[in-house]
Amino acid sequence: MLFRTKKTVDIDTSALPRHIGIIMDGNGRWAKKRGLPRSAGHKAGAEALKKIITEANNLGVEYITVYAFSTENWKRPKEEVDYLMGLLMDYLINAEKTLAGENVVIRAIGSRKELSEEMQRQIIKTEEFTKNNTGIVMNIALNYGGREEILHAVKDISRAVKAGEISADDINERNISDALYTGGQPDVDLLIRTSGEMRLSNFMLWQVSYAEMWFTDKLWPDFKPADLRKAIYDFQNRGRRFGGV
Ligand code: IPE
Ligand code: IPE
Ligand code: MG
Repeated sequence: MLFRTKKTVDIDTSALPRHIGIIMDGNGRWAKKRGLPRSAGHKAGAEALKKIITEANNLGVEYITVYAFSTENWKRPKEEVDYLMGLLMDYLINAEKTLAGENVVIRAIGSRKELSEEMQRQIIKTEEFTKNNTGIVMNIALNYGGREEILHAVKDISRAVKAGEISADDINERNISDALYTGGQPDVDLLIRTSGEMRLSNFMLWQVSYAEMWFTDKLWPDFKPADLRKAIYDFQNRGRRFGGV
């Protein structure tokens, strides 16, 4: 089925990326351009996100992972970290009402033990509340780092080896994928980063192995559903070879 967009780019909904990753960058610069505090940029960014999830879900994308807070973002001023955590908390609470109504499955990926107890409880609550939904799976990468995720997986696998559940020789790529926070989900097909930066910043190091990368100068709060469709359109017009011919 062809989905005609406003800019008349035709998306083939039978050949969608199964898993989209988004590095939502540029909130601070968006605010600065307007003479506003960085927090205003984060707030506008959270609004932009809602529309993107709705669009991806309506198109029929199966998985979307959004980078909300990295293991490196603790380096920011406490005031900004607190604001971001508050925003994420609100997002999780409201998601139960809004996104769940849209049938979205919400999951948090990343290390939880550094998060407040209140946040940890809310994550469990939101995950529980949405787990039987049948729409898009939204992974919120929260206190997430690709290296931390791999480290966590290595520890889990080492414990299984020590307990005699598997032998070291039996460890394979599948075991590693399964031990990641995204265990059971497909690898990322399309990776989007806004704000003109062209780096991974520790995002999904294992899962982006063969992802198509798509960059835009637009700042995250300015990223619209039409931009998502354009990224998908471009993805569908690239030749993925996976090392073949
Ligand atoms: C992305 O926007 C949001 C988070 C990292 C939480 P930034 O806050 O990094 O915005 P810039 O890069 O400073 O413009
Ligand atoms: C990556 O953005 C993290 C998130 C979007 C949450 P950053 O703004 O933190 O990345 P760097 O510091 O520019 O690499
Ligand atoms: Mg940034």
